[in-house]
Amino acid sequence: MLTADTDEEDMKKPVCSLLALVVTTLLLAAASGVSDAAMNITAVLGHSVTFRCPSNHSRPVERLYIQRVIKDKEDMYINGFTNGREMPGKGYQSRTKVNAMDYSMEMRNISVGDEGSYICVFVFVDKAYKPEISEIILKVTAEYSVPTITPDCSEHRRGVSGTGMSCHLSCSAVGGYPQSTVRWAGLNPSLTNVFYNWSLAHNDSKTWTINQTIMYNCDQPANVSCAVGGAVSHTITICQTESFPLRVIAAIAFVVVFVLLLIFVVVMKCYFGRPPTSEDRVEGADVPLADCHSQLQSV
Ligand SMILES: *[C@@H]1O[C@H](CO)[C@@H](O)[C@H](O)[C@H]1NC(C)=O
Ligand SMILES: *[C@@H]1O[C@H](CO)[C@@H](O)[C@H](O)[C@H]1NC(C)=O
Ligand SMILES: *[C@@H]1O[C@H](CO)[C@@H](O)[C@H](O)[C@H]1NC(C)=O
Ligand SMILES: *[C@@H]1O[C@H](CO)[C@@H](O)[C@H](O)[C@H]1NC(C)=O
Ligand SMILES: *[C@@H]1O[C@H](CO)[C@@H](O)[C@H](O)[C@H]1NC(C)=O
Ligand SMILES: *[C@@H]1O[C@H](CO)[C@@H](O)[C@H](O)[C@H]1NC(C)=O
Ligand SMILES: *[C@@H]1O[C@H](CO)[C@@H](O)[C@H](O)[C@H]1NC(C)=O
Repeated sequence: MLTADTDEEDMKKPVCSLLALVVTTLLLAAASGVSDAAMNITAVLGHSVTFRCPSNHSRPVERLYIQRVIKDKEDMYINGFTNGREMPGKGYQSRTKVNAMDYSMEMRNISVGDEGSYICVFVFVDKAYKPEISEIILKVTAEYSVPTITPDCSEHRRGVSGTGMSCHLSCSAVGGYPQSTVRWAGLNPSLTNVFYNWSLAHNDSKTWTINQTIMYNCDQPANVSCAVGGAVSHTITICQTESFPLRVIAAIAFVVVFVLLLIFVVVMKCYFGRPPTSEDRVEGADVPLADCHSQLQSV
C-alpha cells in the first residue's frame, strides 16, 4: 500500500516540509473542499483518544497528516506520516502517535484546550487523485465531583397563619467540563426559588466549579438530592417538623421530670438538712437513719 522509497527532502528539512504541508493544505482546502459531514469524537479529560481518519478508498497513500483547525488562524500541524515515516509536529511529539496501517492517530493526556476541529489530509501516490480532506471534531468531557448538598433550615413566622419552615439548600460540584447546571430531585418546583447561581472556570484546567443555592418553602418532609452533570449527591431529608403531639409529650415529660426532681430535692433537704426537732422524737418509727444517729448522740 505504502511506497517504501524515502523522501530525501523530508528527511533533511522536516520544518520546511511541515511548512509545505500547511501551505498545501490551505491550497487543497480551497481546491477540493472538506468532504461530507464532520465526524464527532469525544475524549475524557486526561485520557487518550484515537482519531480515525475516515477513508473509503484503497489507493496507495503517500502521506497522511492531521491538522488542528483554528478559526481565523493558520491550521496547526499535529502529526502524520510520509511514506510510512512518522513526522510529529512541534509540541506534539510526546502526546501523539500515528498508525500508518489504519490511518489513525492516538492523542494522550487530553486537556480542555484540545477541544476543537481537526482535519485529516490524505495525499495519494497517484497524483491523478486529488488529496482527500475530512473533518473530525473533538469534544472533551470531565465528570463533576459528587455534589455536596448543604441544608440550612429555619422556622419562621409565615404571615398570620402561624409558623412555617424554609430551607436554603446549596449544591456544589467541582472539576467538570463542559459547564453544567444543578438539577434538584424531590422538590416541589412551585415552592422553589433560585437564590444564588455561581460558576467559575478554573484558569489552568478550564474545568468548572458550580454552586447553586435555592430557597425552599416547606410543605411536607422531602427527600432531596441534587445532580451536576452525571454526578448525584446523597439524599437528605428536609422540612421535618416535630409533630404537635410529640412536642406536647416532650413538654409533659420535661415537666414531670422537673417536678420529680424538685420533690426529691425538697425531701432530701427536709431529712438531711434540718436539725432534729421534738416532732422527730415523738414519731419514733418514722425517723430516718441520720436523725437516729443524732438522737443516739444526744442521749
Ligand atoms: C457533530 O456535532 C455537531 C454539533 O456539534 C452536529 O451538528 C453534527 O450533526 C454532529 N455530527 C455527527 C456525524 O454526529
Ligand atoms: C467516500 O466516497 C465518496 C464517493 O464514493 C466520496 O464522495 C466521499 O467524499 C468519500 N468520503 C471520504 C470520507 O473519503
Ligand atoms: C497532562 O497534562 C497536564 C496539563 O494539561 C499536565 O499538567 C500533566 O503533567 C500531564 N500528565 C502527563 C502524565 O503527561
Ligand atoms: C440560575 O441558573 C439557572 C439555570 O441553571 C437559571 O434557570 C436561573 O434563572 C438562574 N438563576 C439566577 C438567580 O441567576
Ligand atoms: C485567573 O485569570 C484571571 C485573568 O485571566 C486573573 O485575573 C485571575 O487572578 C486568575 N486567577 C487565578 C486563581 O489564577
Ligand atoms: C456555595 O454557595 C453558598 C452560598 O453563598 C456558600 O455558602 C457555600 O460555601 C458555597 N459552596 C462552595 C463549595 O463554594
Ligand atoms: C425519605 O426516605 C426515608 C428513608 O429512605 C423514607 O422512610 C421516607 O418515607 C422518605 N420520605 C419521603 C417524604 O419520601
